[in-house]
Amino acid sequence: MHRFIKLTFSLLILGGAGFGLLSAPTRLDAAKLAATTPGDVNRGQNIFWQGGCASCHAASGATGDAKLVLSGGEELATPFGTFVTPNISPSKQGIGDWSLADFANAMTHGVSPDGRHYYPAFPYTSYARMQLQDVADLYAFMKTLPPSDNVAGPHKLSFPFTVRRGLGLWKRLYLSDQPVVTIANATDAIKRGQYLVEGPGHCGECHTPRNAIGGLDKTLWLAGAKAPEGKGVVPNITGGEGGIDSWSAQDIAYSLESGFTPDFDSLGGSMAKVVQNTAHLQSSDRDAIAAYLKAIPAHPNGYPAQ
Ligand code: HEC
Ligand code: HEC
Repeated sequence: MHRFIKLTFSLLILGGAGFGLLSAPTRLDAAKLAATTPGDVNRGQNIFWQGGCASCHAASGATGDAKLVLSGGEELATPFGTFVTPNISPSKQGIGDWSLADFANAMTHGVSPDGRHYYPAFPYTSYARMQLQDVADLYAFMKTLPPSDNVAGPHKLSFPFTVRRGLGLWKRLYLSDQPVVTIANATDAIKRGQYLVEGPGHCGECHTPRNAIGGLDKTLWLAGAKAPEGKGVVPNITGGEGGIDSWSAQDIAYSLESGFTPDFDSLGGSMAKVVQNTAHLQSSDRDAIAAYLKAIPAHPNGYPAQ
């Protein structure tokens, strides 16, 4: 399997070399960004918790206020190697010198200020669906966080994954700002939940299975997946066989607030960190996420029987 992944990825890179234009980074339309109003710090704080930035960018094991120091250095194990998250605090070693345009291009187009593609271990494939005003508000909030001078180490990847250029073609296949599912007669709460789950909340990045080159299989949206770190699974959160059909919308909203399932188990693994974000959301937003999960298409488990 691993060899197959490498082969496919190598082909993408070779393709990238041959079709330079296809793999060149695309950027946000500056006029759209100019249409946003100056960022609102208070709104930005909510969006920060919606986006779960601290889960990956706070120092490993940080709790309480230390979660607001986005010094990076957290290691993320994946089938492609180990990614080390960068410092994104407002400092010289972080993103203190970045303009809003730099930040918005990173978040919605996966492109760095100097034109490199980011790896999708940074879930910009979901953040691409964020409203630009939300990105502007988040930017304003992040400027208020404590600076850190930490310099995070390099990723530990092996060839061919070390070559960022090939990601241009990958992004052509898997980067989209369009909604994932279509829900007939969606209520306002369901629409809000759809925005939160498919956009800033990036729930699909863990709960949806991926193909050999790491693209999400949207035909099994939120149906559960093998855990990226290699052992165990991320559960099916649709209403299908193996999923959470027996949970009421209140059960779901309560689990996102308290970390408890209807059986009074506590949510563990990487979901424990997610709950540290969702616990800060407005309760109407947790209700909206629950309404959306009850409305999406049901699928059987997106991973092989254990
Ligand atoms: C699942 C883990 C994860 C989450 C959640 C996450 N990031 Fe990241 N982020 C990364 C990784 C990994 C990179 C490095 C990507 C690369 O090197 O290509 C990164 C890179 C970045 C960068 C580029 C920094 C630089 O120095 O070039 C910015 C900006 C950023 N993230 C902002 C955010 C914000 C804002 C949020 C929350 C809305 C967030 N990230 C949530 C993993 C994450
Ligand atoms: C970083 C990966 C990750 C992300 C992002 C994530 N989850 Fe989870 N989720 C998990 C894991 C792992 C579990 C299993 C936890 C356990 O076994 O205790 C889980 C469990 C759950 C459960 C309980 C399911 C059950 O059968 O027990 C719900 C509900 C849930 N997640 C909803 C969400 C929602 C909503 C989001 C987005 C706001 C989300 N998750 C984002 C990894 C993730």
